[in-house]
Amino acid sequence: MGASEAEVLIRQHLIDPEVCIRCNTCEDTCPIDAITHDDRNYVVDPAICNGCNACVPPCPTGSIDHWRTVPKATAYSVVEQFTWDELPQQQELAVGAVVLADEETPPQHNAAVSASSVKAPGSALRPSLHLYDIKKPITATVVGNYRLTESDAESDIRHIVLDFGQQAFPVLEGQSIGVIPPGTDASGKPHYLRMYSVASPRDGERPGYNNLALTVKRVVSDHDGQAVLGVASNYLCDLPKGATVQVTGPFGENFLMPNHPGSNLLMICTGTGAAPMRAMTEYRRRLLAQGKPVDGKLMLFFGARKQGELPYFGPLLKLPASFIETHFAFSRADGEPKTYVQDKLRAAAPAVAELLKGDTYLYVCGLKGMETGVMEALRDICRAADIDWTELHARMVSEARFHVETY
Ligand code: A2P
Repeated sequence: MGASEAEVLIRQHLIDPEVCIRCNTCEDTCPIDAITHDDRNYVVDPAICNGCNACVPPCPTGSIDHWRTVPKATAYSVVEQFTWDELPQQQELAVGAVVLADEETPPQHNAAVSASSVKAPGSALRPSLHLYDIKKPITATVVGNYRLTESDAESDIRHIVLDFGQQAFPVLEGQSIGVIPPGTDASGKPHYLRMYSVASPRDGERPGYNNLALTVKRVVSDHDGQAVLGVASNYLCDLPKGATVQVTGPFGENFLMPNHPGSNLLMICTGTGAAPMRAMTEYRRRLLAQGKPVDGKLMLFFGARKQGELPYFGPLLKLPASFIETHFAFSRADGEPKTYVQDKLRAAAPAVAELLKGDTYLYVCGLKGMETGVMEALRDICRAADIDWTELHARMVSEARFHVETY
């Protein structure tokens, strides 16, 4: 090699603080914990990042995909990145400063990484993306705000309908939007936007209207159970009809539904993870109601604490079994054993195995914790049905039939 530390250049991975929406997807995805954050910025630690790119495809905004060639010895530190309001320009490099460090060559993605980087189904419609951003948001009007959970339920989950009037804001089932809460944070800076999955089909919450619904849970505690009021969720849940909201997006180009007749949907969700499943189910229901060919099977596994805590429980019950097979899993129902979606998957093993053999697209959305349990259940179900799960899972990933979005 021969180049000194000062001469060695690296491609430093950076996150654009102006565009990042702090959705935590990159930090969750990074297989080696190179990404971290403070109150303001998400940053990449140059001492840990190996340039594997695992975090790049899942990022909804593209803010993750920034690189600067810098001398290894003076790479931007994490502390320095925390202070940024914008990315630095590429520095002029001394002529002859040479050599990209060999160890910076990106390794191949491993299987776990590629599972989270699954592309959109081949037949999915092409989504509109990033039409509005934090500098140029679109104004929507609240035309409905309804509580979905029962009045005595622990959680306040709401169905909030936003109307875009004459402005174009096209979304597909599975996409998300950003909501910018008004006001400033404790340090006096504007709040970051928060992402919410769209719960309506492509033709609007009300067909033919330029509107969409969100499924929003009022956050009143953090992961450790400490009392904390979520800024955006409380803002949204308290909005009266007629209020206006600043919106960005649409975001998300992979977690989309197939558009060809005959494709089956296997949907597994908890809590507000139901939003994209409701959008997909409602799209298929409308197709059927219009007499259009659908032909595919729908199977839904939906987990909540109890019946009164499950958003859309009533409407789901009204869907005929010939259209969708629904399995509810209640973890805190009085006098019943704790049941998770993975238990219900196991209980329906033969039907799940049968579905997995066909032209089936699988969607998982909700609590991160369920991912492991669901994967184990699918493996066991396949083993019992003489299906090679490792091979099938890899094939579903490569055919864009395996989609996971957890938080
Ligand atoms: P639990 O009663 O154990 O919290 P929440 O209401 O917090 O959004 O959660 C939705 C549902 O997901 C609840 O029934 C919750 O059960 C359940 N859940 C929690 N952890 C897991 C997990 N690891 N796998 C599957 N479901 C889970």
